[in-house]
Amino acid sequence: MTAKRIDGKAFAATLRASIADAVTQLNTSHNLTPGLAVILVGEDPASAVYVRNKRKACAEAGIASFETILPASTTQDALLREIARLNADDAVHGILVQLPLPAHIDAQAVINAIDPAKDVDGFHVINAGRLAVGQPGLVPCTPLGCLLLLRDTLGSLAGKHAVILGRSNIVGKPMAQLLLRESCTVTICHSRTEQLSQETRRGDILIAAIGKPEYVRGDWIKPGATVLDVGINRITRDDGSSALVGDVDYKAASARAHAITPVPGGIGPMTIACLLRNTLEAACAIHGIAFTL
Ligand code: GUN
Repeated sequence: MTAKRIDGKAFAATLRASIADAVTQLNTSHNLTPGLAVILVGEDPASAVYVRNKRKACAEAGIASFETILPASTTQDALLREIARLNADDAVHGILVQLPLPAHIDAQAVINAIDPAKDVDGFHVINAGRLAVGQPGLVPCTPLGCLLLLRDTLGSLAGKHAVILGRSNIVGKPMAQLLLRESCTVTICHSRTEQLSQETRRGDILIAAIGKPEYVRGDWIKPGATVLDVGINRITRDDGSSALVGDVDYKAASARAHAITPVPGGIGPMTIACLLRNTLEAACAIHGIAFTL
């Protein structure tokens, strides 16, 4: 058996097209243009690439984008002042602080300074709490993208056993909350989990978000499972060439799984599409306009 390749890139393109249509309608009906502000602190090259991609995606969707680029030496106070300025700016409906931040800055304190209504990353403690208790709120983009692909691949998720590798606030924990909301049985595994491969083999759904290249072997996968690979790792092969790989050994996993996301072209494009979706949702909510997509 060779697994179906879940084409996140194509799904994200369709989602972005419907977001662009909805933005055009919002312009016409309410004279409103959603706006996303991105703050980048420091010169991390990977972060600079993400910020550039976000700018391009906003432009294509008709969303206004604003960027604040600050040096790595920026103080936490200066960053908090910039967030206060953006919280008060009516043209800005979404605020994203690119992570990681320099070590001298308390990232959670910075995130919690963002107006929860503009927290398009869904990382503010209020939005995390809303997700945990089942109230409406902004949901983190990568887990939301995973959920949309799972629903598209499997239909109802109720009763399925989902195994999540990774317990981060960005992916693992919100993913677990979303899947509980879908009535999955959820197991979260992490670096201290014992007998990891026994746990992963129980998953009808396996979501890998641990940042270790090709760590998940083919025989860790339950035959017929649906596998989502959140990892994006750059590796150097023995012949000196470099490649982007996920957290899962794609070829070996494909021989056992029912469906699997590739890297690149799987979850990555969904994260950006969901950021645009959250920005549109935030703009509608701030203005009391019903949001449908
Ligand atoms: N760095 C890596 N992933 C993310 C993300 O989803 N949001 C933000 N703000 N920074 C990140």
